[in-house]
Amino acid sequence: MKTHRIVRFGKSLLLIVIFALIGATSSLSLAETERSLYERLGGYDAISGVVDVFLIKVWEDPVVGRFFVGMGTDTRNQLRQKNKNLMCANTGGPCNKINRPLGEAHVGLGITDKEFDIVAGHLVTTLKEFKVPQKEFDELMTKVGGLRDYVVEARIKK
Ligand code: HEM
Repeated sequence: MKTHRIVRFGKSLLLIVIFALIGATSSLSLAETERSLYERLGGYDAISGVVDVFLIKVWEDPVVGRFFVGMGTDTRNQLRQKNKNLMCANTGGPCNKINRPLGEAHVGLGITDKEFDIVAGHLVTTLKEFKVPQKEFDELMTKVGGLRDYVVEARIKK
């Protein structure tokens, strides 16, 4: 009799533990899907740091650096801030975009697909340097790839 009760108690305990574990893991994955890309990237400071490093690479690049020649410190600071706000807003963060529409900002510069790829490549290198996890890396690069039509001259709708 007594051993029966102990066995039953053991089984109930096991079930409780199993349900608790299922509950914990499912609420974890739910919390994970509810977190914006902005949050998963590490929030504003992380994005700000990425943009700082990324833009230095772009400005110092032997091929695409020419697009930024003649920009003074204040213009560069503004360009940097506009890119931070854009990345923050486009990943679900609490920022307002402060840039002109991207098509308008890039039209007439004559940017090619190859030049776009060089710039995107600098972002890839920077995200790797910041050790951004693969999932967040893929999500961000998909968003960036979607902007090609607003940057590359031959693709911009005029
Ligand atoms: C996904 C890729 C890109 C993003 C998200 C991006 C974003 C931006 C933003 C937010 C601005 C500021 C617009 C404003 O003043 O309101 C800007 C301007 C500019 N971008 Fe890009 N850009 C991208 C690719 C490129 C590439 C590939 C180049 C050159 C190779 C480039 C060259 C420039 C230049 C020269 C300006 C200044 C334009 C001006 O003020 O007249 N961008 N970009």
